Amino acid sequence: MVWKKVAEKGDIPAGKSKEYNVDGKRIAIFNQDGYHALDALCVHQDGSIVPGKLEGYIVECPLHFWHYNIKTGELLDYLKGVKLQKYPIEARNDGIYLDA
Ligand code: FES
Repeated sequence: MVWKKVAEKGDIPAGKSKEYNVDGKRIAIFNQDGYHALDALCVHQDGSIVPGKLEGYIVECPLHFWHYNIKTGELLDYLKGVKLQKYPIEARNDGIYLDA
């Protein structure tokens, strides 16, 4: 794992998310009381969670409405113990860095 700059500060407005391709991995970054990074693809049928509705720390997959906690990656419906991979993320002076 290597820290790398993935975005400029201000690229992701508060309360929003964007998807980034980091070394071939599709990663969702949410700006919700700090930054949160996790795999972008839902474990159900690989829909991207990025366009999903965000309420607090819960994002709803837009395809079939499964829910994830963006702080932990945990799936909140159906399959107990299933999580999306989380990644360390930091806002530094010159941008947003991810360890992926
Ligand atoms: S692809 Fe996410 S709920 Fe179906």
